[in-house]
Parts: sequence; C-alpha cells; structure tokens
Amino acid sequence: MEKLLEIMRREGPGFISGEKLGAQRGVTRAAIWKIVEELRREGYKIEASTNKGYRLLEEPDRLPGDKLAALGIRYYDSLESTNRVARELAEEGCPGGTVILAEEQRQGRGRRGRSWSSPPGKGLWFSMVLRPKRLTPGEIAPVTLVVAVALTRTLREETGLPITVKWPNDLLIHGKKTAGILTEIKGEPDHTEYLVIGIGINVLQEEEDFPQDLRHPATSLYLESNRKINRASLLQQLLQDLTPSLELFFRQGFTPFRQPWIELSSTLGQSVNLTWPGGRLEGHALDLDPQGALIIVDKNGKHHPINYGELQAGDTTAANSSH
Ligand code: BTN
Repeated sequence: MEKLLEIMRREGPGFISGEKLGAQRGVTRAAIWKIVEELRREGYKIEASTNKGYRLLEEPDRLPGDKLAALGIRYYDSLESTNRVARELAEEGCPGGTVILAEEQRQGRGRRGRSWSSPPGKGLWFSMVLRPKRLTPGEIAPVTLVVAVALTRTLREETGLPITVKWPNDLLIHGKKTAGILTEIKGEPDHTEYLVIGIGINVLQEEEDFPQDLRHPATSLYLESNRKINRASLLQQLLQDLTPSLELFFRQGFTPFRQPWIELSSTLGQSVNLTWPGGRLEGHALDLDPQGALIIVDKNGKHHPINYGELQAGDTTAANSSH
C-alpha cells in the first residue's frame, strides 16, 4: 500500500493510470483497484476517473485505530503520556510486549523532566512494556542505545535521510532533533520487574507546529525530506525491526550493537560538555565501551566512562538535546 501511495504522491496533483500503477507495482489493474479501496477505507481521498486513472487528493491525519488494535497495539486518541499509561499497565501486570500509542499527548515527557511536544496527527508517540526478568537493571541500561540504533536504521531505510545518533537518546538530522527515547526501568539490583521504552518521532510537523520556546532545534521527517510519510506503515516497520533487536540484546547484551552505534553516532570525535545533577565535565568524546558507557577524555588525558547525563555544545553536530 505504501509503495502505491509513494507513486501517487510523486505524481502530485496529476492523474496516473491504473495500467501504469499496475506496471510499476507489478500487479494487475484489479489488484490496484483493491488497494485503492482499502486506502479509501483508511481515510485517503482518491479520485478515480475511467479515462485518466487515479489521483491522491488528501491523506488522513489520523492513524487507523482499528488496524492498530488488530496488531495488538493499545491505541488512544489523547493521553497525558504514553509512558505514564505504560507504567500504570505494567504495575497492573500487563504482559511484556504491550504497546501503547496515542494520537496526541497532552503532557508528553522528555528526559530530565522536560516536556515533549506531541501534537495530534503529527508524529508517532508510543511506549512499549517489556519484562526481561532474568536481567538486572544494570544489564538493561544500554537498551536506549540499542533502540536508538534500531530506530535510526529503520528511519534511514524508510526516508533515505542522514539520521545520526547523539548520545544517549537523540536522533538528529543535520543537527536537529527528530526523535527521542525515554526509558524507565523498575527492578531490584538483581532483577528487572519491567521496563518502559517511550519513543517519540516527529513525522509530519511543519515549522509552525513546534513550540516557540524549544531549548534546542527540532525538525520532522517531513521538513527534512519533503515527503509525507505514512505514520501507520512507518510504525509497523519500526515495531517489526525493533523486536529482533531487543531480543538479540536480551540474549547477547550490548556487544552486537556497539559497532553499529559507533558507525551511526554524531557524538564520537566531538568536543563535548557533559552535565548531570551536581556535576560537569568538559572533554572529548572518544569511544563507547562494551557496556555502552560513553568514554570522555578530559584535558588531563583522564578517561571517564559516562552512563548518565546530558551533552551540550562543544560542536554543532553534538549541540542539540531534548526538546
Ligand atoms: C527525550 O528525548 O527527552 C525523550 C523523548 C521521549 C518522548 C516519548 S513520546 C512517547 C513517550 N511518552 C512520553 O511521555 N514520552 C515518550
């Protein structure tokens, strides 16, 4: 379906014949008609003319709730925060793998108590509950980096955009933030009760959809690619790609993800300024250790393995954090 939409979007306001569409997709005209019908049921407005073919008039600005429900996703029109609801459901005993998604978040949360702007119809705001019981919270800690690698790979694949990862949880395009991850873990030192991985992706925002007072520049996939990516198919692809990555991480730890993270990172090699409650460190981001800690070298050549904090300035490519 997404391929057909792509072709029609490329055609702009013009018509494209069923024959041509069929040839490009390698299917019959009857099959094209069936896909068009399905798209219409999902809210796409598609004009059909016997002589001229099809043209895309309007795309839905809502996710297909019933289709998401069929995939096992708990879909809400509006929530304060999907992470908050995910935690509540986890406390009530929901199974691992539960996904909660909201069309809009009224109080979306970012890291370090920040807010996350989540207007309706513009992005993907969702959280997953996982229960890797045998692992300790310490072993789980690099999960944010694992999710960042999986998201970056999928988004690069789907958009062709040069997305990079900024330690620990930001996805950037040309230095502007397009997605963030908020992981919350509940457990004892020797086992994990559950973790909630919250993912926010700016998909369709235009400049004016972002709040004026963002501390750091933000962008959307649409602003960077000029393409209105279909959120439902993107979500499906993301979940499909995330699952094997998480399973591999729970089985083998961070090792298989270290090199991919390094290759996707815009942090390594930069001079950085790290702040955390009660501390500050200036230096050079040298490496990522096998446990996922960022190694910063200070001016005296001392190596500091960092697991928590916020990176600022130093260099424009590493200058943006949460919005
Ligand atoms: C950050 O970069 O500071 C993390 C942003 C995480 C935002 C997502 S949107 C879905 C989920 N629910 C929330 O309230 N926050 C996360």
